[in-house]
Amino acid sequence: MPRRRIDGGATQPSSRNANVVIALVECHSGYAMIEPPLSIESLQARAAGELNQWTGSAARWSAAAPGRVNVIGEHTDYNGGWVLPMAIDRYTVLVAAPGLQADAIRVRSLSLGEQSALSLSRLSDLSDDKWMRYLQGVLAEYAHREVVCPPLDIVVASSVPVGGGLSSSAALALAMAHLIEAVTETTWSPSERIRAAVSAERDGAGVPCGMMDQTVVEQGQQGSVLLLDCAEDLISSIIPCDNPQIAWLVIHSGVAHELADGAYAQRRTECRMICKALRVDSLRDVTPEMIASLTPDLPTESPTPSPALSPRPFSSQGPLDEVLRRRARHVVTENQRVLAATEALKTANWPILGQLLFESHQSLRDDYQVSCEELDLLVELAQGHDAVFGARMTGGGFGGCIVALVNREALSSVATSISQGFAQQVGLSPRCYQVNPSAGAGVWAVSS
Ligand code: GLA
Repeated sequence: MPRRRIDGGATQPSSRNANVVIALVECHSGYAMIEPPLSIESLQARAAGELNQWTGSAARWSAAAPGRVNVIGEHTDYNGGWVLPMAIDRYTVLVAAPGLQADAIRVRSLSLGEQSALSLSRLSDLSDDKWMRYLQGVLAEYAHREVVCPPLDIVVASSVPVGGGLSSSAALALAMAHLIEAVTETTWSPSERIRAAVSAERDGAGVPCGMMDQTVVEQGQQGSVLLLDCAEDLISSIIPCDNPQIAWLVIHSGVAHELADGAYAQRRTECRMICKALRVDSLRDVTPEMIASLTPDLPTESPTPSPALSPRPFSSQGPLDEVLRRRARHVVTENQRVLAATEALKTANWPILGQLLFESHQSLRDDYQVSCEELDLLVELAQGHDAVFGARMTGGGFGGCIVALVNREALSSVATSISQGFAQQVGLSPRCYQVNPSAGAGVWAVSS
């Protein structure tokens, strides 16, 4: 599938050594590899300054929402399974003032360096700007229930990397939901906001996503990860994980993931085909034995991943197609790994948790086939470091970030060594972030 680098250049996995010299120079001059987080206050101050310069108005309302890292449980949410994500201390902040243009929501995004507008009386005409559709979708959901926003001028400032698989879109949508409520003096429940943000992603942006991202972005807890039961759309436990022995290191491959490209939707279709063949409502109801009974010839070792693999037409009576069996095996084993990881987290058993992260990556790479060369390389480099307990791609895949569970004392040497290894092979220093489990979205008072 086509991939786009964040810096705009084409992805060239085969010419990894092209810029080795330049990358090494960059590496040596930029040893401070881990990017410090920006506080909500500082993002808000930047956005408010920009709003004032642009419109002459002072910010009157503000809302903020975090990004998220999924610790484990990938592509299980839309299969009624289990996921274990955390909201992180990277935020999207919106500030707003009464709009100067009638019938319009005008928005300037500092992180994208773009400006866009939409008409409040034509909310169903999809904006040409993809990022604007998240705001539009949420506005439309509130408008459906008679919560009508007045004209606004909005500035967005964000420290959630766009295209990194860290849910920048869910953060934007949920910050917008809270902003609308602040402006219109309305209060919806968390689950109503989550549903509005999910609809904005599905209908507006065209990604048939599950509920994980919006749920954790809205309901994240300071210092904890959430175990979500996606069959019931509920938080089944809140697990503290701010242990001083460990740190969560996120490393961006530099490849922008494009979930709307079709591969995500294709995986969902494949899962529906499996359910039909096994006569179950969801893959949550499938056991390893059920897959095994259908796959006497499935090798234990996975073959070399082939991005071109796609399911052949198949009959619901016959054995599952090879590709579909692999998809099912990922979902079923990933659910087991989430539950095992929850226990490991509760007992601070980092080696076991780490092993589960590596196994999850392998399954996503070989069976579900949603990884890419750059993510695989980052995980491989992490695996070679003693102070890394485990690592895996996080989010929808096809680019974006890995998350690594690291011995906190060695955090900076791990980041440096993975970055250098990556730069030597790919010609680009990856961006590294240490993330901490954080609270979910909300209205944020405007500081004077
Ligand atoms: C994206 C979707 C989520 C989930 C993940 C994969 O982030 O928005 O609903 O399916 O991919 O786990």
